[in-house]
Amino acid sequence: MQFTGAHILSIDQFSQDDVEHLFQVADAMEPFARRALRTRVLDGAILSNLFFEPSTRTRVSFGCAFNLLGGHVRETTEIKASSISKGESLYDTARVISGYSDIIAMRHPVAGSVEEFARASRVPVINAGDGPAEHPSQALLDLYTIRKELRIDGPLEKLRIAMVGDLKHGRTVHSLGKLLCLYRNIHFTLVSPRELAMPAYIVDLLRSKGHTVSETDSMEAGLHNCDTVYLTRIQEERFVNQAEADLYRGRFRLNQAIYTQHCKPNTVIMHPLPRDSRAEANELDNDLNQHPSLAIFRQTDNGVLVRMALFALTLGVADQVARHVEEVPWYTAKRFRNPPPL
Ligand code: NCD
Repeated sequence: MQFTGAHILSIDQFSQDDVEHLFQVADAMEPFARRALRTRVLDGAILSNLFFEPSTRTRVSFGCAFNLLGGHVRETTEIKASSISKGESLYDTARVISGYSDIIAMRHPVAGSVEEFARASRVPVINAGDGPAEHPSQALLDLYTIRKELRIDGPLEKLRIAMVGDLKHGRTVHSLGKLLCLYRNIHFTLVSPRELAMPAYIVDLLRSKGHTVSETDSMEAGLHNCDTVYLTRIQEERFVNQAEADLYRGRFRLNQAIYTQHCKPNTVIMHPLPRDSRAEANELDNDLNQHPSLAIFRQTDNGVLVRMALFALTLGVADQVARHVEEVPWYTAKRFRNPPPL
């Protein structure tokens, strides 16, 4: 794809070459993310972060990624803080905000809304999650993490991944499933209550690309022999009836004992976060916090690199970053070189 000026709305846009290119740019962002160097390549540029659904890491990491490239960030959070609550259309909001910004990252509860917004925008728009549909930047950082954790240098093959939890409403697993389709011979084990199964169109897509897919509602069977387990939260905000969400919370849990009993040693543990740590849910137990295979905070760190790469590519400065480099004068923690014990 031609990255410069493109909207990033869906994983469907990406080829394997695009992903490889993006990951090379993400690798080059590492000195800036760990504050060994700073760059002002986007000095003067403005990102508008429009987050009409709750978010911690996606919103803040998009913002930090832009700041780390030297750009400025404007935030709008919650529909009630925006004129959308006064009846303004997405079209009008897009026309207005795109006049104030160089690029926009947007999250909205309705599937397809970010695309609708992008059609009216005069600047690139990145989908930061549209309802249950897609979350492309999360899938890209997830794949980037899988490759780093499994020490795969280059396109991945023969991955065995278990996706666990609310696969019906989880936009991260929808996008990650589509993204993994670009590679070969992946074995997917989809673990969910039957009512929260992966949408059939995605399962069909995986099979049509030659991947093996098994679906189960047994966590133990699902964990057997995988390289990576990707846990998800029950997406309670997508249920009309909260009592229904309560039925599924806590159905699939990973803790130290279950990991030791059912997972191969070194199985990588991932979760897009937030994990629901309330007692009735607790799909990923704190007793795994010290486990070396728990990749969740490396995943969030990698999100900054991948989002920096998305900005550098869509704004056409990926090859100019090094021309605007300075030393960092302030104290910088060695967070990337020597990560503290979890
Ligand atoms: C996810 C999301 O918003 O889809 N979070 C995130 O962006 N890292 C997953 C979730 O909310 O469960």
